[in-house]
Amino acid sequence: MEPGGLYDADLAAIHAAGFSSTYADGFHWLVTQIEGPLFDLGCGDGTWLRFAAGHGVAGAGCDISPSFVEMARAHAMTVQLSDAQTVALPCDTSHVTALGEVLCYAAPEAPHPVKAALDHLCPHPALRWIAFDVIGPDMTDTRGTGGGADWRYDSITTVTGPALRRRITVTRNGRDSVTNHYQHLTDPDALRHWLSDHGFEADIGDSYGPAPLLPHRFRVIARRR
Ligand SMILES: C[S@@+](CC[C@H](N)C(=O)[O-])C[C@H]1O[C@@H](n2cnc3c(N)ncnc32)[C@H](O)[C@@H]1O
Repeated sequence: MEPGGLYDADLAAIHAAGFSSTYADGFHWLVTQIEGPLFDLGCGDGTWLRFAAGHGVAGAGCDISPSFVEMARAHAMTVQLSDAQTVALPCDTSHVTALGEVLCYAAPEAPHPVKAALDHLCPHPALRWIAFDVIGPDMTDTRGTGGGADWRYDSITTVTGPALRRRITVTRNGRDSVTNHYQHLTDPDALRHWLSDHGFEADIGDSYGPAPLLPHRFRVIARRR
C-alpha cells in the first residue's frame, strides 16, 4: 500500500465533496438496524459515523487512507488508520458497516479481499451483524465524470475477468493527478458460503432501505445464526 493509502489528499477531498453522501438516504434505515456498538470499516471522511453518532449510535471506525482518517478525526470521530483485513475491533463491537464497496479493494493477484476481511472479522466474539456492499459479477466497463467549484473527476473502469481497474484522473485547485484502484468482483453464491462457514446468514439486496445501490453492486446484511 502506498503511504498515502488509496485516496490521497486531493482524491479524499473530492470524494468528501461529491460522493460521501451516495447512500445518505439509507442512513436512517441503517440506524434503526443497529442495536449495539458500531465499527465502520473504510469510514472515509466519517459522514456515516457522524450521522450514526447524532442518532444515538456509539461508534468508531478505521480507514486505510491517512487523509480520510484526518478528515474524520477533524469531525471528532474516533477513527484509526487500519486495514479492514487486520483491524483489531473494540471488544464490544456487535455491529459492523462497510459502505461504498470498501471490502472490494485489492490487486488482481491478491486473495479475494471480501473473503479475507470476513475470515478476519467473523470470529470476533461479540459481532452479530455486518452490513456491506460489493461489486457484482455483472460489472461492466464504465466511465464516470463529475465536478464541482474547484475540482474535476474522470474515471474509466475496465473489467478483466473477476477483477477491475479504475483509472481516476482528477484536477483540484489546478493540480492534476492520476490514481489506479483495483477491486475484485464478488459472486453472491460464494459470498453466502463464506458467511455460512462462519455461522452467518446473508440477506442480499439492492438497497440500504430507501437508498438504491449503484448499478452492478449488491448489499449484504449478514446476521449471526
Ligand atoms: C468509496 S470509499 C467509501 C468511503 C465511505 N465508506 C463512504 O461511504 O463514503 C472507499 C473507502 O474504503 C477505504 N478502504 C479501502 N480498502 C480498505 C481497507 N482494506 N481497509 C480500510 N479501508 C479501506 C478507502 O480508503 C475509502 O475511504
